[in-house]
Parts: sequence; structure tokens; C-alpha cells
Amino acid sequence: MTPVTVRVPAKVNLQLGVGPLRDDGYHDLVNVFHAVSLFDEVTALPADEPVVTVEAAPDAQVAIEDVPVDGDNLALRAARLLAERLGVEPNVELRIRKAIPVAGGMAGGSADAAGALLACARLWKADRILPALPELAAEIGSDVPFALLGDTAIGLGRGERLTPVETSGTFHWVFATADGGLSTPAVYGECDRLREAQGEDVPWPRPSEALMKALAAGDAHALGAALTNDLQPAAVMLRPSLRRTLDTGRELGAIGALVSGSGPTTAFLAASPEHAADLAAALGQTGVARQVVRADGPVPGATVV
Ligand code: C5P
Repeated sequence: MTPVTVRVPAKVNLQLGVGPLRDDGYHDLVNVFHAVSLFDEVTALPADEPVVTVEAAPDAQVAIEDVPVDGDNLALRAARLLAERLGVEPNVELRIRKAIPVAGGMAGGSADAAGALLACARLWKADRILPALPELAAEIGSDVPFALLGDTAIGLGRGERLTPVETSGTFHWVFATADGGLSTPAVYGECDRLREAQGEDVPWPRPSEALMKALAAGDAHALGAALTNDLQPAAVMLRPSLRRTLDTGRELGAIGALVSGSGPTTAFLAASPEHAADLAAALGQTGVARQVVRADGPVPGATVV
């Protein structure tokens, strides 16, 4: 059996509309996912027992020490779930090469799980299971199905019920990563707490028409103006330094700025590749970020390389 390597993109949420807390502990979402050219690689090789190793991609300052390598590892959980479904032993070595920030709000763990599903399906020569991967992905986490699909898509329910969104052209992004992650459940919990303190009914989120129009037209300025994230106040409350990072990016000329998903990575939209390079350089000099990374979107989802 030859090793299989899969490349999987990070995501940024262009709209993250968070509805009321459900009885199952999740929130109904209007979640517009956008895959960007910052990739983790997952290689699956035959092994005597399930094992996972993690390394940082060249030049990526990712906190790999924060990635579990035991049964909690999402990629390993994905491999086990797939093996169970196929009736085979989950004897695979997963080598993860990370460029996506850990616990950064860019779905790095979900990307690794999606990569493991595709890599193991190929390693185990189980192409018949490929149509079922999105459903298996949703069992592992709300953001995993999108990591398989890629491009731009709107996710309803927990975010796992996906419909592709029409886009034109390429959007140019600058991401500022932060030291230390934020726990996704903690950020959702803080969002609920802030809303309860305000005492207002939580409106049902609706897809933003302005956002859909901007994406279809490939209009970066309109996209920048339409970016929204209902988790942002909670992420900023838990990590007050994000306010300054966002302000700095805007002052340096970003045409859109927001916290990526549950944070703490912040995303800045630029008007052109040159603008993105300038913005990245300027942001890097301010010292507000752990690392400043350029990426473009949309890009395809999990792909065998
Ligand atoms: O699905 P996943 O395991 O990635 O979700 C992580 C956590 O994020 C959940 O346990 C929940 O606290 C929160 N979440 C949520 N509503 C969603 C998706 C995630 O509250 N739609």
C-alpha cells in the first residue's frame, strides 16, 4: 500500500450568524464558509496500530505542542470512525503537517479530520465510501464537512448542511495569528452569556443578501463591508487584545476586518494581491500578531496530492 497525502484548506467565516442555543448544546447557524490557501497536509500510511504524528509546515509558526496525539486527535477519530464503518482495523499512521493555526478559529482540527477521512478511504481502497464522507465528517464536527467541500458555501443547522455559494474571482486575505488558542465551546458560551446579560431575544440569523451579491460580483470592497461574525464580541471579551489587532488592520487600510470564526485569528481583506502584500508587511511590523500570513480564497476542499 502506497502512502496517500491529502491537502486540506483553512476556512474563514464571511458571515457567522448565531441563533439561539438549542437543547442539544449547539446553536443554529447561518455560516458562510470560505476556504483559503493555507493548507494542512495529512499523510496516511499502513501501520501496526493507529498512531498520529504532528509537525509544523516549513515557516509556519503553529503551536503543534497543543495538538493532542492521543484518542482526542480529530484526525485519528476520523480514521477510527471510517474503519468502523468499513469493518476494517484502524491500523494507520497519520502524519499531519500543519500550517493552519491550532485552536485559531480557522478549522485546523476539522481540516485534519477531513484529510484523514479522504486519505484513509484511498489508502484502504474504499472508493465506495466516498459519497458517505460528508455524513461521517458531520459526526466528527460541525466544520468538517466544509473542509471536504471547500470553495465558498453556506452552512445551516450546526453548520454542516452545506450549499455551495456562487463567487467570482479571487479574494486576497491577510491573517494575523495570535499566541494561545481560544476554545470554541468557551466562545459560544460567552456569546450566550453576553446575550443573556443584554436581555434581548436572539433573532433568527438570515443569510446576508449584501454578502451574496458581493461574492457573486467578485466585489472585494462590498465583501469587506458585508463581513459579520456574531461570535466576535465574545471572542474580544475573552481576548481583549483582539480589539487592537482589528483596529490596527483597519488603520493600515484593510477593506474588511473580523475575527475568524471563534478566534483568536483575525482576518483582513485586501483589494488586490499588491495591497495584501503591503498590508501583511505593515501588520507584521506592528507586532500585534504572532505571525502574519497571506492567503487567497476560494480554494478547493480536501484534495489528494
Ligand atoms: O461540532 P464541533 O465539535 O466542532 O463544535 C464544537 C463546539 O462548538 C460545540 O461543542 C459547541 O459548544 C459549539 N458549537 C455550537 N453551535 C454550533 C457549532 C458548534 O454551539 N453550530
